[in-house]
Amino acid sequence: MALPEILLWVSLATLMATADAATTSLLGVNWGPMVSHPIDPKSVVKMLKANHINKVKLFDANSDTVNALAGTGIEVMLGIPNDGLDSLSKDYGKAEAWVRQNVTAFVSAKLAVNVTYVAVGNEPFLKSYNGSFVKSTFPALQNVQKALNKAGVGDKIKAVVPLNADVYNSPANKPVPSAGDFRQDIHKLMVNIVHFLQSNNAPFVVNIYPFLSLYNNPNFPKDFAFFDGNARPIVDSGKTYSNVFDANFDTLVWSLKKAGAGDLKIIVGEVGWPTNGDINANVANAKRFYDGLLLKLGKNQGTPIRPIPIEGYIFSLIDEDMKSVLPGSFERHWGIFTYDGKPKFSMDLSGKGMGKHLVPAQVEYLPFQWCVLKKDVKELYKLAGNMDYACSLGDCTALGYGSSCNGLSKYENASYAFNMYFQMQDQDVRGCDFGGIAEIVTKNASTGDCLFPIQIISSALPGQVPALGLFVTF
Ligand SMILES: *[C@@H]1O[C@H](CO)[C@@H](O)[C@H](O)[C@H]1NC(C)=O
Ligand SMILES: *[C@@H]1O[C@H](CO)[C@@H](O)[C@H](O)[C@H]1NC(C)=O
Ligand SMILES: *[C@@H]1O[C@H](CO)[C@@H](O)[C@H](O)[C@H]1NC(C)=O
Ligand SMILES: *[C@@H]1O[C@H](CO)[C@@H](O)[C@H](O)[C@H]1NC(C)=O
Ligand SMILES: *[C@@H]1O[C@H](CO)[C@@H](O)[C@H](O)[C@H]1NC(C)=O
Repeated sequence: MALPEILLWVSLATLMATADAATTSLLGVNWGPMVSHPIDPKSVVKMLKANHINKVKLFDANSDTVNALAGTGIEVMLGIPNDGLDSLSKDYGKAEAWVRQNVTAFVSAKLAVNVTYVAVGNEPFLKSYNGSFVKSTFPALQNVQKALNKAGVGDKIKAVVPLNADVYNSPANKPVPSAGDFRQDIHKLMVNIVHFLQSNNAPFVVNIYPFLSLYNNPNFPKDFAFFDGNARPIVDSGKTYSNVFDANFDTLVWSLKKAGAGDLKIIVGEVGWPTNGDINANVANAKRFYDGLLLKLGKNQGTPIRPIPIEGYIFSLIDEDMKSVLPGSFERHWGIFTYDGKPKFSMDLSGKGMGKHLVPAQVEYLPFQWCVLKKDVKELYKLAGNMDYACSLGDCTALGYGSSCNGLSKYENASYAFNMYFQMQDQDVRGCDFGGIAEIVTKNASTGDCLFPIQIISSALPGQVPALGLFVTF
């Protein structure tokens, strides 16, 4: 090869490598803790590295999780749960203690955890919280940033508040981004928070969920939730919107403009699509959503009025079987990986639309055995009570309308519930009795699209698995 050719090849390779890194470095994942059988954090971190995921957002500062990230260079957003806001808001000393134990200790040269943000609360102004955290959030944010500054890390580590997109809206009679503003009941508070973030060089973190737009409104035009341009566009102030993500994002930009902070940096704290637990929550829709989202992010074109690259975190990394299902059964199925660390569909995180297969996590399974309803059971009066019991402690969200196991018979339903409970209890034989109507089998009990899972061997603390009323039978 002649020299110029080598040079050309080298510079092209460098260019491509930077392009790759530039795209992926803007994309992170949410790694949630509401799991009965968490995969070993070290395996999860290996999986992150293998998939070139360089940013994670956590919901707490669990030391096993954070230690597994040490020395990897992966950027970490730590989290403070909402129930910690009150004391942090009232007592600056508590903020200092939090920063000492959960930031300073981890970022020290020895551990080298690459902490970049501390999330103070999680969607604290959600309407369904009835204002419970309205008083405490801003003072807690100020105290945490002050403590970060005092610890000498405030220029690198910023305190932020991940907010649901329900903190801003457009009036019903003018549903366009340019009519957007912060919600009336928290308007003054939002303006104050925005100015604090701005003065501190910290971003606004917002969670945007096209799935929920569709879920909450039966008249929502389905195509508008996706990015493939099939929806009838909205035209607003000379800009054209072909998807709800852009429209929602720009509603925030307009709200910030009206608050006098039109160029405040925005990070999308959560964006994703669930794969089970609702008629619109399935692998096909999730793949359609992510394919469009990732291509869009990969083009680095931003939104109509913010045409710059968007930084964001996918929600979420792994399914969480202990999440509250109050908002809906889909809550336990947001992962791009299943409970056992398998990718649910192909996706190209670099945004080039290459249909790549993600690398799974290394896990070990419990024995391949299932708990099912005995054949020829006579005591059918025992079915309903036992099934309710099993489902109150095991995850039965796949059984509901529109979900992957919805077509089962009444007997298969019971088997499904019994198995979920049995696996939840680490296959303890006493967890497969149900008043004598259940038995352990070694033949795969899955049917059609309905997976009867085998739980993994987990380092979970026993306290994380619900033991309440264990082995009660009806
Ligand atoms: C540090 O974070 C952990 C896990 O989120 C929490 O339990 C603990 O209370 C925090 N430390 C302090 C001093 O607040
Ligand atoms: C930490 O993350 C930042 C931002 O992505 C990056 O520039 C830096 O190199 C990382 N630090 C380490 C030690 O890897
Ligand atoms: C909010 O109010 C509703 C209705 O009054 C109540 O059902 C719900 O439990 C409340 N939620 C919280 C978090 O206080
Ligand atoms: C199975 O259970 C689901 C969820 O509880 C329920 O919607 C469905 O009707 C049940 N199927 C039968 C045949 O009973
Ligand atoms: C059981 O069967 C289902 C589908 O039929 C399959 O996906 C699953 O991997 C099987 N489980 C085991 C442990 O072989």
